[in-house]
Amino acid sequence: MDGILIELPFASKNPHKLIEANIALRDYGVKLVPVDVEKLEIQSEDLEKIVTYAARYAYSILRKPVVVEDAGLFIYALRGFPGPYSSYAFKTIGIEGILKLLEGVSDRNAKFVSVVALALNESDIIVFRGEVEGSIALKPRGSEGFGFDPIFIPQGHTETFAEMGVWRKTLVSHRGNAFRRLGEWIVKNRDKLIRLL
Ligand code: IMP
Repeated sequence: MDGILIELPFASKNPHKLIEANIALRDYGVKLVPVDVEKLEIQSEDLEKIVTYAARYAYSILRKPVVVEDAGLFIYALRGFPGPYSSYAFKTIGIEGILKLLEGVSDRNAKFVSVVALALNESDIIVFRGEVEGSIALKPRGSEGFGFDPIFIPQGHTETFAEMGVWRKTLVSHRGNAFRRLGEWIVKNRDKLIRLL
């Protein structure tokens, strides 16, 4: 690497996502910088489609490479709910509502999925997916993080994401995995990306 830090616009208003993404990217010579572009969310069951559309829209406003991320919690016993509707489910039924839906359900397995899109221009949009398997806790635990962090226990661990804190969370999380893939792509395509920025 040439030692130059690449600063890439990140169209997100979620400060937790920004911190997690930058932790994941710190070994790749990349830093995301928040930009105030509305995240245009289409109705779809497909995170890749949602994020590709949002990245194309963000590029059309900024006219330079931009990163967008969309994530969801997929609970197997609920046939993948809330999935792409996670943000709406969090705002409406919240953690308590999810725990209620799982009352008496023995299969508490779930996964978090994060999909990151890098728009190089309006047609060249590269997508990176990260996942983490885990299970839904019986009750909320921990005070760090955001969203469903207090009830998600990643596989191979006993603590929830909210108990692990952002550094340990990002080592195993869906978002950590997706942004590390973006980092690997950038390492291979640094010169091309720098020319576009
Ligand atoms: P968004 O649409 O990508 O902002 O995320 C959808 C929703 O999923 C968020 O509002 C959170 O409730 C939840 N979510 C996404 N990622 C995480 C995470 O890393 N931890 C906890 N909840 C998350």
